[in-house]
Amino acid sequence: MKALNVCVIGTGYVGLPTGVGLAELGHHVVCVDKDENKIHALQNGQITLYEEGLEELLKKNFSAGQIQFSTSMESVSNSDVVIVAVGTPPHPVTHEADMQYIHAAVRELATYLKNYTVVAIKSTVPVGTGTVVEKIIKEQNPTADFDVVSLPEFLREGFAVYDFFHPDRVIVGTNSERAQSVIQTLYDAFETKPNMLFVKRESSETIKYASNAFLAIKIHYINEMANFCEKTGANVLEVAKGMGLDTRIGPRFLNPGPGFGGSCFPKDTMAMAFMGRQNDVSMTLIEDVIKENWARKKQMANRVLNVVKDIPDPKIAVLGLAFKNGTDDCRESPAMEILDEILKANVTVTVYDPKAMENAKKLIGDKVVYASDMYSAVQNADVVAILTEWDDFKSLDLQKIAYSMNHKNIVDCRNLLDPQKAKENGFNYLGIGR
Ligand code: UDX
Repeated sequence: MKALNVCVIGTGYVGLPTGVGLAELGHHVVCVDKDENKIHALQNGQITLYEEGLEELLKKNFSAGQIQFSTSMESVSNSDVVIVAVGTPPHPVTHEADMQYIHAAVRELATYLKNYTVVAIKSTVPVGTGTVVEKIIKEQNPTADFDVVSLPEFLREGFAVYDFFHPDRVIVGTNSERAQSVIQTLYDAFETKPNMLFVKRESSETIKYASNAFLAIKIHYINEMANFCEKTGANVLEVAKGMGLDTRIGPRFLNPGPGFGGSCFPKDTMAMAFMGRQNDVSMTLIEDVIKENWARKKQMANRVLNVVKDIPDPKIAVLGLAFKNGTDDCRESPAMEILDEILKANVTVTVYDPKAMENAKKLIGDKVVYASDMYSAVQNADVVAILTEWDDFKSLDLQKIAYSMNHKNIVDCRNLLDPQKAKENGFNYLGIGR
C-alpha cells in the first residue's frame, strides 16, 4: 500500500475519527484546526470528543508519528489529499447549510497548494458545492494543479471508529481519473476492500443528503406507527420486527423513540428541504417530517408532565441527555429539547447521563440538579423519564427504585425496560407504542 500524505481540516466528530483512521491505515496525516485549545489537547494525546476506541488509536498513531496536529495549513503544500471536514451548521433562520467555514477553509488551503492535490470535501454540503470550491481555489491560486472531489461521510456518532473501518460503501464524486486513483489508494489499505462507487460530484453530494433524509423519514415513520399502536393495542416492536423481515424494508432504524436528533438528521433534513424550495422541487414528505419530529419532543414532554399533573411540586428524574447512546454529544438532542419543555412547567428536575453531563451543563447550567448516578437521580422522584437509549438504563433495578421513588411512574421514551416487570413492581409504566 502506498502511504499518502493527508491533511484533514477540521478535528470534529467527522474530521478526527477520519484522520486517526487514515493514520491507522498507514497514511501520514496532519489534522488541522483553528481551535488552539483543541490542537494543544490533541498534541498531548487528550481526546477532545468521546468516541469508542478513538483515544487508544489516537495515542498509538500520535506516538508512532503517524498523525500530527497543527493550527497551520502549511502541510497542505506536501499533501496528496486534503480532506475538508469543517462544520456546515444550519442557518438559524433559513436553515440552509451555512457555508462560511467551508469557504474560509478552502480560501486558505488554496494558497498552500503546490503539487497535484486532491481536495476532498467530506463535510455535508449543498449540491453544487464542488463547483463553487473549484472556483474559489482557482481565484486564490490560478496556477494550482488540483481536483475537487466529493467524499461524503457516513459515520454514526458513537460508532465513528467502527463505521470508519466497516463502511457500507465509499461514495466518491469526481470525473477525474487522476483523482479516482488517488482516492482508491487512500482506501487500498483496507483488509476487505470497501464497496467504492464513483459517481458525478453532484450525485455524490446528493447521496449524502438523500440517505440521511431517508433514514430520518424511516425513524419518523416508525414513531407514527408507534402512535397508531398506542391507540389500537398493537405492539410497535412486534410491528417493526414484522416489517423488518421484508428485505426491502430491513430491521435497522425502526426503533421508535422521542424523535430523532443529533447534529446531522435535523440539519440535513432542513437543508434538503431548503434545496428543494431553492430548486422549486416539492419535498412535502421531508417538510412534514421536520415539523412532526419537532412536535414529537413537545408531545413527549407533555406525556411526562401529564403523569405528575396532580402532584404538588413534582420532582422529575430524567435519565439520558445525549442525543443517542454511545456519545457525549447533546447538540439537537431530543432529551435536551424535551427537558427544555419540561422546565417551562414549575417542576424540580434531576438529571443523569453516563457521558453527556459536562456537555449538558454547558447548555442548561443550574436549571437542574445533576446526579452522580441513575439511582440517586430517581431518589424521591415522582416520575422517571428515560430519554436516551443507554444500555445502563436497561439494567435499572426496578425493585430498588420502587422503594426510593415518591410516586412510581416511568415514562420510557426508548422502550428500554420490561413493561411486565415494571407493572409487577407497582409502576405506572408508559412506553412508546406498546
Ligand atoms: C447519522 C447517520 O446515521 C450517519 O450515517 C450520518 O453520517 C450522520 O447522521 P448520527 O446522527 O450520528 O448518524 O446518529 P444516528 O445513529 O443516525 O441517530 C440519529 C438520531 O436518530 C438519534 O437521536 C437516535 O436516537 C435516533 N434514532 C436512530 C431513533 O430514534 N431510532 C432509530 O432506529 C435510530
